[in-house]
Amino acid sequence: MKYKIAVIPGDGIGPEVTNQAKKALDAVAEMYNHIFLYEEAQLGTAPIETEGNPLPEKTIEVCKNADAILFGAIGDPKYDQDPSLRIRPEQGLLTLRKELDLYCNINPVKVFSQLIKNSPLKREIVKGTDIVVFRELTGGSYFGKKELSEDGEIATDISTYSVHQITRITHRAFKAAQGRRKKVTLIDKSNVLETSRLWRKTVTEIAKTYKDVKLEYLYADNASKKLILQPTKFDVILTDNLFGDLFSDELAVISGSIGVLASSSFGEENAIFTPVHGTYPEAVGKDIANPLASILSAAMLLEHLGLTEEADAIERAVEKSLDLNITTEDIKGKNKYPAKTSKVGDFIADYILNQEDSNLNFINMHAGQSTII
Ligand code: IPM
Ligand code: MN
Repeated sequence: MKYKIAVIPGDGIGPEVTNQAKKALDAVAEMYNHIFLYEEAQLGTAPIETEGNPLPEKTIEVCKNADAILFGAIGDPKYDQDPSLRIRPEQGLLTLRKELDLYCNINPVKVFSQLIKNSPLKREIVKGTDIVVFRELTGGSYFGKKELSEDGEIATDISTYSVHQITRITHRAFKAAQGRRKKVTLIDKSNVLETSRLWRKTVTEIAKTYKDVKLEYLYADNASKKLILQPTKFDVILTDNLFGDLFSDELAVISGSIGVLASSSFGEENAIFTPVHGTYPEAVGKDIANPLASILSAAMLLEHLGLTEEADAIERAVEKSLDLNITTEDIKGKNKYPAKTSKVGDFIADYILNQEDSNLNFINMHAGQSTII
């Protein structure tokens, strides 16, 4: 089959890791007889510099016409250090979310057994953690009216939610829970925020129509403790845009797998797949960033296209690279001969193509141990 994939490498290490994901997709295309037509589009810092706009019209068009979108990362230290800059790379991503109405951000937090040792938490606490965060992505303080008073002394971000916005993501979260451990935890601050009270009321009503799913409520401050103390107690987390941003990152770190976690964002028409990690400016151009999150984003993308077997092939290759410790320095440590970003990508692509006859020689070649040639 033929598929159109919009590719947005973005900023920082985005281009380096996205290239590895493309290698994996190319291997899948060859192995399973598909054609992936990539169309590259710009978002973030580069188009600000060339045309003063973090999200060119062309990018929106490319994304709308694609079957799925693969995205790298966004942001730049230059903008982080200067809050007075009015045009910012992140605006590009936020506008894209709005344009495509990508309201449902899904962050699966999986603990890879090979990576538990990298968790800052004790093994017995983190082992068995399997959570999916459903983060609303088009509302809240991210998109409300923003103001800075003329004298620069008072700033305002308005947070707004409608029943419609809450309803559509709630159904997605409950449906997902039905296929999992049948529990949804709504995280909010309904003891303080009006928007949270609307979330509680709306979600409680909808929950009545999913009799097999248990709904629990947690205040966000309490949740920030519980997630660290007992992450295995959670199944599906449902929350708004800002809380979802924070908790997704917290969970990614405690899983020990931040370099490996991918996420997806859905609207009714479009879907975007992206690593959970950011731009990692210190690593740019050094070929050291972990490409597995981007590669697994590509696997999620295939799953979305209905290519389950193909997605599995990528996931198996990733597991193999972790088993064999063909991994970058964030996982392996600087002093233990970590693999370069591009080498991990090569291994994954080779494994997809050769797994049936994954002979020792092939593995040795990649693991950089002995070569029997
Ligand atoms: C994310 C990112 C974005 C967000 C930034 C880059 C605007 O952190 O996708 O989680 O805050 O939503
Ligand atoms: Mn974030």
